[in-house]
Amino acid sequence: MKGSLPSPPLVSRRLVNALLGLGFAGVMGGMAGAVLAYLWPERGQAAGSDLVMGAEGPLTPQSLGQGQGVVGRSQVGKVLVVHQGEEWIGLLATCTHLGCTVSWNPDSKQVECPCHGARYGLRGEVLRGPARQSLGRVELAVDARGIHVVSAAG
Ligand code: FES
Repeated sequence: MKGSLPSPPLVSRRLVNALLGLGFAGVMGGMAGAVLAYLWPERGQAAGSDLVMGAEGPLTPQSLGQGQGVVGRSQVGKVLVVHQGEEWIGLLATCTHLGCTVSWNPDSKQVECPCHGARYGLRGEVLRGPARQSLGRVELAVDARGIHVVSAAG
C-alpha cells in the first residue's frame, strides 16, 4: 500500500520497561523478606534466653513425662531433652551423619535419625551407623521456669 504508515508495535517500550521494573522490585522485595525472616528471632524465642523452647513455649518439667523426650529450640540450636529417672538428659539434636533432626524413641530407648537410620544411645554415643560421631552433650538445668541450657559440647 502506498503512503501507509508503519503500524505501532503491540507492546510499547514503556510497557516493557514497566514490567521489567515490577519484576525487579518483586525479586528485591522477596530477597529483603528472606533476609529479614532469617535475622528475626523465632516466635517465642527470647533473644539471649537460655530456655529450651517447645512448640507452645518454654519446655517445663511438667511438659515432659517420665521416659519421654522432645526436641526443642535453644541458643545452641535444636536440643533433644529426655526425662529419664531423676535425670534430664540433653543432646544436640542434629545427626552427625548429614544433619537431619533426631528424635527419642521411648520404646527402644534410643535416639533415632529418620533419614538413614543412625541410632544413638542416651549419652550420644553411636549405636548404629552410618553416623560415626557421637551427638554433642548439652548440660541442662531445670527449675520452675523451665529447662535451661547451661553449656553444650559439640
Ligand atoms: S542424616 Fe542421620 S543417618 Fe543420615
